[in-house]
Amino acid sequence: MSPNLTFASEEAAYPAAATGSMPSIAPAVSMPVNEILTVQNLSKIFGPKPERAAEMLRQGLGRNEIFQQTGNMVAVDNVSLGVRAGEIFVIMGLSGSGKSTLVRLLNRLIEPTSGKVVLEGHDIAPMSTPELREVRRKKMAMVFQSFALLPNRSVIDNVAYGLEVAGQKKTERYEIARKSLVRVGLGSYEKLLPGELSGGMQQRVGLARALAVNPSVLLMDEAFSALDPLIRFEMQNELLRLQKEEQRTVVFISHDIEEAIKIGGRVGVMKDGRLVQVGTPAELIQSPADDYVREFFRNVDVSRFQKASSLLSRIDRGVIKCDCGTSADRYTNALLDAGVEWGYVCDEAGRYQGCVTYASLRKCGSAPIREALLQDVPAVSTDADLHELSTIALNQEHDVPIVDGAGMFAGVVSCRTILKQVMQRRAA
Ligand SMILES: Nc1ncnc2c1ncn2[C@@H]1O[C@H](COP(=O)(O)OP(=O)(O)O)[C@@H](O)[C@H]1O
Ligand SMILES: [Mg+2]
Repeated sequence: MSPNLTFASEEAAYPAAATGSMPSIAPAVSMPVNEILTVQNLSKIFGPKPERAAEMLRQGLGRNEIFQQTGNMVAVDNVSLGVRAGEIFVIMGLSGSGKSTLVRLLNRLIEPTSGKVVLEGHDIAPMSTPELREVRRKKMAMVFQSFALLPNRSVIDNVAYGLEVAGQKKTERYEIARKSLVRVGLGSYEKLLPGELSGGMQQRVGLARALAVNPSVLLMDEAFSALDPLIRFEMQNELLRLQKEEQRTVVFISHDIEEAIKIGGRVGVMKDGRLVQVGTPAELIQSPADDYVREFFRNVDVSRFQKASSLLSRIDRGVIKCDCGTSADRYTNALLDAGVEWGYVCDEAGRYQGCVTYASLRKCGSAPIREALLQDVPAVSTDADLHELSTIALNQEHDVPIVDGAGMFAGVVSCRTILKQVMQRRAA
């Protein structure tokens, strides 16, 4: 490969010699409301003849064929996406699918072959080198898998580095760096050197360094992938907490589906340089675009994403709409006639009151139907997940009645449906 085709070094994200001011010449570009970062038809082809490879792509040839015939690698192929302010957007895919290239195209650590990146309404393509440095340092700070800390600088000097090269005074930058360290739980470690910290702590320093510049978008390329499972788990929670407290916009790269669905508000799935699907974790789980996406969820516990709202059956038979003061015996035969075992009593507005059976109605006789309501059949919210539903189903023999946020009866999730879902997940 020719020398100009290598990645820009990680240190390039924290250039020492930055000059110039924030982008001024970049024209404002309109983008959908709420979208902080917009990517349009972005492609990167590494190799000697990108134009030829692009032509072969248009002719419908695949990435591998093109590489074999020309030595050009289509790393990112016509990707369009929008990142919304305050969301964690995860880019997920197998190794080699183009994730790192895509994230480096976002801040032009890699020059695109074609396509556009618009940050806060400004196209980054026409920006000069100093302007780009400003963008990388202040607007799109990056956290790397390898931490990329300066080994001879103390923790606080690492965190304050971006502010230092921006020319900020020592007292000011230390104040900001200290706050940043406190935010990642490293308040008392500022004097140590990176080598004196564990991997997890070093990555907290990396995160604090990125947060110190208060970036519009935080770019994290496999930032937790090198950490031990427990530390990784902690860091994921930490990131979720930060995002919640500070409404951080994060583009997070991961090859791990469990990480992706845990932290991602939305997840974009990459395959062979293409973005094959974008959706919330629940959308990807419920309607995977293809087998590649479906395959990621094999052996993954997705019960958290299966909600009662998508599993319920709306029912008419057995729904008893009445004033709860009405005597029970009016409905005993109705239940028999409908051929159902359980009745779901709702008031006249449709609000769920409780569940009855033929036996409970009989026992109640002419007393008000409210006395026939079974005490041990709780109604469950449409937001309840498969895990909660299974726990409830284990403790009762009834279908699970479901109510919406306003307490209206929405339907039931049958024990059979729950069992089927659980079995399917096991078999997957
Ligand atoms: N500088 C480069 N020169 C040539 N090929 C590259 C270069 N960087 C990445 N690639 C290739 O582009 C493809 C995508 O790589 P990458 O973006 O690193 O994927 P991921 O981060 O998903 O593992 C891979 O086939 C990789 O070998
Ligand atoms: Mg990568």
